[in-house]
Amino acid sequence: MHGDSDRDLARLYLERALPRRWRHVQGVARRAEAVAGHLDDGELLVTAAWLHDIGYAPELAETGFHPLDGARALRELGVGARLWGLVAHHSAAVHEAQALGMADELDEFADERGLVRDLLWFFDMTTSPDGGPVTFAQRMADIRDRYPPGHYVIRSLGPSLHDRRAAVERAGRWLHAVGLDPRCP
Ligand SMILES: [Fe+2]
Repeated sequence: MHGDSDRDLARLYLERALPRRWRHVQGVARRAEAVAGHLDDGELLVTAAWLHDIGYAPELAETGFHPLDGARALRELGVGARLWGLVAHHSAAVHEAQALGMADELDEFADERGLVRDLLWFFDMTTSPDGGPVTFAQRMADIRDRYPPGHYVIRSLGPSLHDRRAAVERAGRWLHAVGLDPRCP
């Protein structure tokens, strides 16, 4: 998967069916593209950014748990295993999987832990549903507002907060260290 084809695949599945999600994905991907030249696996980061929410697409939503559905769809397409793992585990999905009783299914995929993964989480969790940059705290507050109490996303938010924040802090430190503005572009 390279460049334009990642974007085209995401667009195909999201633009018409889920226009707001598509705006979010474009925001995440543009920010990933802005830093990609600074890391060895920049291309993988950009691919994962374009495709991280593809599992929300109605055609792909087999279980209704988007990280798992997205990872399985990409596995069927035959693209690289690291990508499936990044998509499956993005933004502390394991906690949501536990709340849903789907942890075993998510275990089909490896959470690689590292810079690419942390940056993907960072951009996802500091990009608003409409695609603009927000703080991590604003994004978490938005999630609390958007989902009803008792929803699995809300039930898993507390348990996931430590992992989420740790990834955001590591990514933020790296961005700072290489001289990039974490809020850009
Ligand atoms: Fe997501």
